[in-house]
Amino acid sequence: MTVAIIGGTGLCELDDFVLKESLDITTPFGETSAPILAGLVAGRPICFLARHGKPHSIPPHRINYRANIWALNSIGINRIIAVNAVGGIAESMGPAHINIPDQIIDYTTRRVGSFCDDDKEMPTHIDFSFPFDEKLRKILITKSEALSLDYSAGGVYGCTEGPRLETAAEINRLENDGCHIVGMTAMPEAALAREKGIAYASISLVVNKAAGKSETIITMGDIEEALKSGIASVYKLLREVLPDL
Ligand code: HPA
Repeated sequence: MTVAIIGGTGLCELDDFVLKESLDITTPFGETSAPILAGLVAGRPICFLARHGKPHSIPPHRINYRANIWALNSIGINRIIAVNAVGGIAESMGPAHINIPDQIIDYTTRRVGSFCDDDKEMPTHIDFSFPFDEKLRKILITKSEALSLDYSAGGVYGCTEGPRLETAAEINRLENDGCHIVGMTAMPEAALAREKGIAYASISLVVNKAAGKSETIITMGDIEEALKSGIASVYKLLREVLPDL
């Protein structure tokens, strides 16, 4: 078993998942968000990890990203498909749209971003020019196209610290920087995966227009509505993609 799904907001468990084993893995960096679930989707062995815990209780800035990635690496995972809920900055990215990003700008300020932050692991300087794995991205894009999903291939993911949403001025700044979507969970997750040599790609599901990009303020009710319809597309995509991995 070499493939893992990291589920984000709205994806605490997988559809059609046949659970075989629940793994509690001890890591040098503390506890994972939840036990890693090993099982089958459409006959394909995969692992699933709920990033925010199960039930959803860990906010983005409190997630133990290092423990999660370390644990997945320790059981031989070499490909991760991450599901991330995001706000849409680009005009075309409204609720329930799926973006397969190809770049990241990291605006987080308080997270431990490397396994070599303390002296547990040797210092490394990973190449991170292209933070997402191209092969995985291509598969996600090809299948999104085949399923006629409301999706876009390529985008810049601005990762903010949270847990609050942004001000309209902050979103304008991100837009000027070239961001198309904004979320709170791709970093340091993507960089840690790279440090461990794990191929990583994101299915970024838009659950709201980013701050200042719609006439109204952002409510949790609106986000939940968008999640409900959007997650159905994410499931569809995963079901198509997993047998090819
Ligand atoms: N901003 C940051 N993170 C998010 C958003 C947002 O608007 N929506 C979902 N995650």
